[in-house]
Amino acid sequence: MPTRPPPGCSRANDTLRAGAVAPARDILARDEMTPTDQILRGRLLSFARRPEGPEDRDAYTYLEDGALHVANGRIVARGTWDEVRAAAPEVPVVDHRPHLILPGFVDTHIHFPQIEMIASWGAQLLDWLNTYTFPTELRFDDPDHAAAMARAFFDLLLSHGTTTAVAFGSVHPQSVDAFFTEAARRDMRMLAGKVMMDRNAPEGLRDTAQRGYDESRALIGRWHGRGRAGYAIAPRFALTSTPAQLQAAGALAAEFPDCPVQTHLSENPAEIAATRALFPDAPDYLGIYESHGLVRGNTLLGHAIHLEPREIDALAERGARPVFCPTSNLFLGSGLFDDAGLRARGIVPGIATDVGAGTSYSMLATLSEGYKVLQLRGQKLHPLAAFDWITRGNAEVLGLADRIGTLDPGTEADVVVLDSRATPDMALRLSRAESLSEELFALQVLGDDRAVAQVYVAGRAQLGRDRADVAHAAA
Ligand code: GUN
Ligand code: ZN
Repeated sequence: MPTRPPPGCSRANDTLRAGAVAPARDILARDEMTPTDQILRGRLLSFARRPEGPEDRDAYTYLEDGALHVANGRIVARGTWDEVRAAAPEVPVVDHRPHLILPGFVDTHIHFPQIEMIASWGAQLLDWLNTYTFPTELRFDDPDHAAAMARAFFDLLLSHGTTTAVAFGSVHPQSVDAFFTEAARRDMRMLAGKVMMDRNAPEGLRDTAQRGYDESRALIGRWHGRGRAGYAIAPRFALTSTPAQLQAAGALAAEFPDCPVQTHLSENPAEIAATRALFPDAPDYLGIYESHGLVRGNTLLGHAIHLEPREIDALAERGARPVFCPTSNLFLGSGLFDDAGLRARGIVPGIATDVGAGTSYSMLATLSEGYKVLQLRGQKLHPLAAFDWITRGNAEVLGLADRIGTLDPGTEADVVVLDSRATPDMALRLSRAESLSEELFALQVLGDDRAVAQVYVAGRAQLGRDRADVAHAAA
């Protein structure tokens, strides 16, 4: 497999030191953040289930002049402005009108150590891993580098409106320690796990079956359930694990049934052929994970594009979760995800960025590319279903819909505020929009981090950008 970048596209500037990374946007320091007892006023949108279309009004709540009362990190009340204000007349108000207020976005598959190598040229999966990914992940051996990248990672997520993600670390446990340390500092609900990989990777990126087990177990002990952290057991994919390591990952999964399992499945034809050659006795790719106890209701399977009929049966039977990663699938030329085909079998997929093979941190951009992938499949993604997907739908895939993903009272106050007129092209399009669905579709197709006016984590505003245009008045 080629290991050198193509001419004219050499690897990122190695002289850029981690400490030199600037914040993605104007992220507030903790002592600058507003108190959490406040009322957010704006146009509220929250989903109760996946809408079947615009007429499916029972599937969502939309309040034109709505308000959320947020206190101690949670949503205390939701209603019309008049109702919420009358019940809490003394509480300070942040007036976000005319913007939309939604639950913070949820990204169900992203690689934390790949943020430096997003947009690396010209390869499909296996060459891309060897040429760009593995050399970049080697650097996470250094805890200082991991800590600097964790700061940049969470700045990027927040500026794009994402408040929860499920991340792969590198093989180094210190990468996951840096990740959760930074997430805890920001009080963010985050899931992650160190990748387990004991073959087909360079020296320095390999653990062993035993070490992968021991290190993962120690990380679970340190982080799982601590504050808002959750550990996701992460055998990277069958190609980089021996059967002994998959066995160890399965043992860990059995010991910790509430830890999600995350891995990759059937992303690319060359990957599938190499995997089948390594496991000739398995019925198919998914069968390898099944025989090691890794496929269950809280298993997240990135990509799941080129599936055999038996694999689809098994996904349906076990309730496992394929994860659609549209920008990545287009970027690496991997293939077209069959969303409708899987849903017809009762399978509920997640949707995710998969940065660094994915090309944007924005869940809006992810929906836009998802729409186009499904067009090529002859399938329709309605904007109401799309916005449900990146909020409540992904939270449900993670088994967290009672805590995040909606604006329901009692849930955690992770909230995004969207400006549908953030750019001249969006403003022009919105001047002709006649429905909420049209507005959402314009946001999805044209929007990105520029449309994120504010984001709240556990009730605290994170971005400095809109302070000037928001009245913090006790109206
Ligand atoms: N399969 C195994 N590792 C990876 C990865 O880092 N990115 C993608 N897209 N696929 C993978
Ligand atoms: Zn991935």
